[in-house]
Amino acid sequence: MINAQTDHSWWRQAVVYQIYPRSFADGNGDGIGDLRGVINRIDHLRKLGVDAVWLSPFYPSALADGGYDVDDYRDVDPLLGTLADFDELTARLHEIGLKMIIDLVPNHSSDRHVWFREALAAPKGSPARARYIFRDGLGPDGSEPPADWPSIFGGPAWEPVGDGQWYLHLFAKEQPDLNWDNPEVRADFLHTLRFWSDRGVDGFRVDVAHGLAKRLPVELPPWSELRTRTGAGQHPLWDRDEVHDIYAEWRAVFNEYTPPRTAVAEAWVDADRRPSYASAEGLGQAFNFDLLQSDYDAPSFRTVITENLELAARSGSSTTWVLSNHDVVRHPTRYGLPPLGAKDPDSVIAKHGADWLRSGGTEPKLDRELGLRRARAATLIELALPGSAYLYQGEELGLHEVAGIPADQRQDPAFFRSGGEQIGRDGCRVPLPWTATGSSYGFGSGPAHLPQPDWFAGLAVEVQDRDPDSTLALYRAALRLRRELQAEESLTWLDTGREDVLAFRRPNGWTCVSNFGSEPYPLTADEVLLSSSPLDGDELPGATTIWTRPA
Ligand code: NOJ
Repeated sequence: MINAQTDHSWWRQAVVYQIYPRSFADGNGDGIGDLRGVINRIDHLRKLGVDAVWLSPFYPSALADGGYDVDDYRDVDPLLGTLADFDELTARLHEIGLKMIIDLVPNHSSDRHVWFREALAAPKGSPARARYIFRDGLGPDGSEPPADWPSIFGGPAWEPVGDGQWYLHLFAKEQPDLNWDNPEVRADFLHTLRFWSDRGVDGFRVDVAHGLAKRLPVELPPWSELRTRTGAGQHPLWDRDEVHDIYAEWRAVFNEYTPPRTAVAEAWVDADRRPSYASAEGLGQAFNFDLLQSDYDAPSFRTVITENLELAARSGSSTTWVLSNHDVVRHPTRYGLPPLGAKDPDSVIAKHGADWLRSGGTEPKLDRELGLRRARAATLIELALPGSAYLYQGEELGLHEVAGIPADQRQDPAFFRSGGEQIGRDGCRVPLPWTATGSSYGFGSGPAHLPQPDWFAGLAVEVQDRDPDSTLALYRAALRLRRELQAEESLTWLDTGREDVLAFRRPNGWTCVSNFGSEPYPLTADEVLLSSSPLDGDELPGATTIWTRPA
């Protein structure tokens, strides 16, 4: 069991539950989830048995990108509450032994941030513009963009401001990229880290951690060249070596606190570049999205697990496992669709399920039952692995992705900026169902800001609470057992004699056996502690995982 105050390594094998606050619970009935909603539902987190909460952005924002467009890094959006609510939530989490991790978005602010407003009001070459990345446009009057680069959400990455200058935004145009060469920007973020750490925040999830350091040449290369340029720390936009100087400064701030504040990098970099982000001189931990990008396939899982344990060992950090988050199609849905085959090399966001979303959820055909069965099996693998696990709100209910959200109700900028080519991420951000009936299925006393499907009723927390076979019951049992069984951060693969059956053992005998195939696999004499689906006599059925220990 984690002792938060004395154990400085609490994060190494923590289970972190991601709350996307606008869709978790709505305390005031305005249709938007808020901090009061989280406070009201805190017992759900306690019963679930997670170790920490990661709160996605709750800062003032016009929601051009779900809150990842931050107007003020040191405040709470009035629609979500107040700083006093934030303090109350942190205190309540601490009372029940949970840590609070908050999302930090340093690569870009919003276009409503006071700095960006100052930059627009100030002339070319001014100190106010130097906090962002401005360039002169091309052509005699600067009316052409400085380069033909696309933004990650589609559309151009450069936006004109009307005086011949353009600013860089790698994401939506409401998200101007900050200039991290600027000492004021650097100092201000140190202030922000202390602001929240002083309020008792235990750690930070760092958005686009690989993007902060940029080195744009005077002559900007065309996209055709830039997109294929290999990095090795020298790419103009991504994963530059000097980004680690920034994190070394942050580390000094984290270490001012007891226990030191933690951080986890969202860094979409090659696996062998990840250890620098995860090092103890840097952020300390980095997300590994390899499992999330992998098909439901035993050899792929085994390769990903082996590689990532090695990488984590190299950095001295623990590894991180993620199957779902607010950016990807939920894992029961991915696993109920035909396999992806290969990763999309061009995308920072996993695209599995993109075609299905585009068809409104009809093509290819989704096998909902098989998808959920596999998801439960994959979750038990994830939770038996050494390292920390990041769960996304709603996965404990076995929610599928919501398809068919009408275009006029979509919110994701990726949908608008790509002209509908990318449907985007709204389908995993639909407000949670808490009750089988009532307005917005108990999300709040009013409506929900994204439409909830009818099938949410049967998956509501109150329904699953009564059902010992529910996905919620499985998550609760798994997290309770995980606390009891937790062991040193290593595993040994066991020979199963079958390519589609994986088995590994932790140093204390805790064993995980998973049958990815469809042929049953004989059980051993070990005591079965938990099973992701009912067992078939003395056989482990397909798409099922068990936890055992020597009898
Ligand atoms: C990664 C976040 O997870 C995603 O939701 C966001 O849109 C981009 N970064 C830009 O901040």
